[in-house]
Parts: sequence; C-alpha cells; structure tokens
Amino acid sequence: GIEVSALLKETGFVTLDQGFVNTASCSSAITYIDGDAGILRYRGYPIEQLAGRASFLEVSYLLIHDALPTPTELADFADKIRVHTLLQEEMRTFFSGFPRDAHPMAVLSSAVTALSTFYQDALDPTDPDQVEISTIRLMAKLPTIAAYAYKKSIGHPLPYPDNSLDYVENFLRMTFGLPTVRYDVDPTLAKVLDMLLVLHADHEQNCSTSTVRLVGSSQANLYASVSAGVNALSGPLHGGANAAVLDMLEQIQRAGGDVDTFVNRVKNKEKGVKLMGFGHRVYKNYDPRAAIVKKAARDVLSTMDKPDPLLDIAFKLEEIALADDYFVSRKLYPNVDFYTGLIYKAMGFPTNLFTVLFALGRLPGWIAQWREMTADPTTKIGRPRQLYTGSPEREFIPIDKR
Ligand code: ACO
Repeated sequence: GIEVSALLKETGFVTLDQGFVNTASCSSAITYIDGDAGILRYRGYPIEQLAGRASFLEVSYLLIHDALPTPTELADFADKIRVHTLLQEEMRTFFSGFPRDAHPMAVLSSAVTALSTFYQDALDPTDPDQVEISTIRLMAKLPTIAAYAYKKSIGHPLPYPDNSLDYVENFLRMTFGLPTVRYDVDPTLAKVLDMLLVLHADHEQNCSTSTVRLVGSSQANLYASVSAGVNALSGPLHGGANAAVLDMLEQIQRAGGDVDTFVNRVKNKEKGVKLMGFGHRVYKNYDPRAAIVKKAARDVLSTMDKPDPLLDIAFKLEEIALADDYFVSRKLYPNVDFYTGLIYKAMGFPTNLFTVLFALGRLPGWIAQWREMTADPTTKIGRPRQLYTGSPEREFIPIDKR
C-alpha cells in the first residue's frame, strides 16, 4: 500500500473513494474485524471471550498497552484512574452555563476540550509521560463529566465522585444518586453496563476514531482529538443510532405496533425512514457485538416486573428484516446499536444519554488509536486530496459593475 501511494504521489494521480469505502487510512495493530465472517478481536482476543469475562478497565488496558494486565498492573491502572476522578472546582461551574436542555453529547465534547485548559502542563503528544497522564485523566474524568451532563439536564446538584467504588459503580452513583437518599448500586446493573462498555471499546477506523486520528495527525493534543471524536460519534449514522433506534421503536409503538407498515416505508426509501440499528459499512454478516447485546437485552428485560413491549417490536422487526429480500440482498443485519437502547432504558437512562454511554465505552479505543498513531515515526498529517468540480478561472468584477 505504501509503495503504491508513493508511486501515485510521483505521477500526480489522485484517487476518489467517497466515504473511504475501499481506502485504508492507516495501518493498525489494535482491532481486527472480518466483516464477512462477523469476527471482531481486540489485540487478537475474540470479543466473545472478553465480553462478560474481562472488565472494562482490563480491556482498556489491553487496548492501550497491547497486553492483558496482570492483577498488579490492573490494580495499579485502576488506582491511578481512581485518584483523578475529580474535576477542578472551576470546571464544575461550567455546567451551570449550559441551557438545561443542552444535549449531553454537546456538553461532553465541550467539557473534554475544556480539560485542555486545566492541564496545559501535559499537552505535548511527543512526550510519553504527558501522554500517559492525559490518558489517565481522560479515563478518570469522562464518567464524571458524563454524569454531570445528565445531572445538569435534570436540574440536580453535581455530586463528587466516590473513589471507594469501582469505575462503573462510581459512574452509576454519580448519575442516579442524590445527596438526600441512600443509593446502593445494583451489582447486576453495574456488571451489564461494564460489559456493554467492553463491547464499545474499539472498532478500528470508524468515523469517530478516524476523526480522532485526523485531528491528532496535526499534533493537536489528546483532549482536542477526543473531543472531536465525541462530536463525530454524536451523529445518528454513528453512535447517535442507539438513541435513534429507541425513537424508532417508540414511533412504531405509538402507531399501534404495526411493524410491517414501518418496514415497507423503509423498503420504499421514504425520506428519512431507515431501519436504525441495521446495516454496517464493514459487517456484511451479523455484528458479533449485536448477538451479545441481544442476549443481554433478553436477560435484563426478563428481570423487569413489567416487560417492555418495545423489545417485542425489536424482535419482530429483526425477524421480518432477516427474512426480507431488501435486507438480505443488501446484507443488512442488526448492528451493536439495535438492542443497546432497550437495555439503557431498562437501567433508567434517558434516551439523550445513550450516545454518551457509547462515548464512555469508546474512549480507550480513541486513546489507543491516537497513541499508536502519535508513537509511529512514519505518521504524516492527514490531508486528503479532492477532485475539483467548480468553475474554471474567472475574471473578478468589481461590486459596482455587477
Ligand atoms: N435501513 C434501510 N436501508 C439501509 C440501511 C438501513 N439501516 N442501511 C443501509 N441501507 C441500504 C441503503 O439505502 C443502500 O441501498 P441501495 O443500494 O438501494 O442504495 C444499501 O443499503 C447500502 O447502504 P449504504 O448507505 O451504501 O451503506 P453505508 O456503508 O454507506 O452505510 C450505515 C452504513 C451508515 C451504518 C447505514 O447502514 C445506516 O445508515 N444504518 C442505520 C444507522 C445505524 O444504525 N448506524 C450505526 C452504525 S454502527 C455504529 O456506528 C456503531
């Protein structure tokens, strides 16, 4: 690949590949996907072996350091993160400046950028110690920021982290706890959320990760790069799909639960009507993460007093789609987002927080990819070419003559 690109550069030849459908933007040793076979591996480990067996911090360490941690290494990593969960007091006041109905993803990306104003001592991507402390700070502070984005939206006071709790428990307590009421974290809920974060932890060169790399390729700092990744993730064709799926299921429910009519609208390509949570640029088979999430959704929702009718609508949609030639011929299968929203809803998260949960999960992947890129001496600034389609040269006409 590198030789071809050097040759093309010499000849002035430019290739156009809209959406990077067939063009690799980098080499990477982090995540392997075989989209036809439905295979996903982090650093060589199949996702099915990691999900439910390795904790989110364990997997984060694996992605970032290319090795499963020993118990001592994991305890050290968790301890370092634990002591950085607090935000600077001035930073907490930022949250009061946003309107109550601000989208939590917008608050999240703004706050991540703001971190770079507080940690100007560690913004140099070429200094490994600075990169390491920025990694720890981001891992530690993102759950605090995410919980504050939510608390702000419901007008509740911003709690301080409780460092006696583990990573996910701490996030759940900051999100759902109140100073006035005792809040005990449900261990089952924490375990499932931890597993969902693992499933989201990396996915090679997706839109947000490519964004993180592109921004970082200019030697912008880690906070600036991750903040850009959060913004890329917010779109409904990417991380925003988990919220869009729930909106879609609720819309079908409101219309009387008629799944066939909805599927026909999708097949007729009505403007703005897609089967959200279906299809993927790389997977042309069942997304292996979706299979794990589907099982978790069934397990979690079966423990509820009143089953969520949206789950039945989702099952029915999937059943119809997988037997329909429109979806079969285009190899459209459920992706990771199809069932996650139902679990988040059952856990009590509002829909506009779903994509924030995705960002929490994807953070170690963004960091690992950014670190891999900045540590590589062959990295060049990302600078795509274009095919110009505008006007040929024109003579300027002064404004009084137009
Ligand atoms: N519903 C209906 N039709 C679809 C869907 C869908 N969800 N996804 C793709 N198609 C159709 C397209 O209309 C197109 O049909 P055509 O050949 O008749 O024109 C064909 O399938 C190929 O689709 P593309 O849009 O070319 O596929 P692309 O790889 O560019 O897009 C994407 C992938 C963005 C994920 C797309 O499938 C989609 O919009 N899905 C819904 C949103 C979603 O779930 N996003 C989450 C992705 S996973 C993630 O980010 C975690």
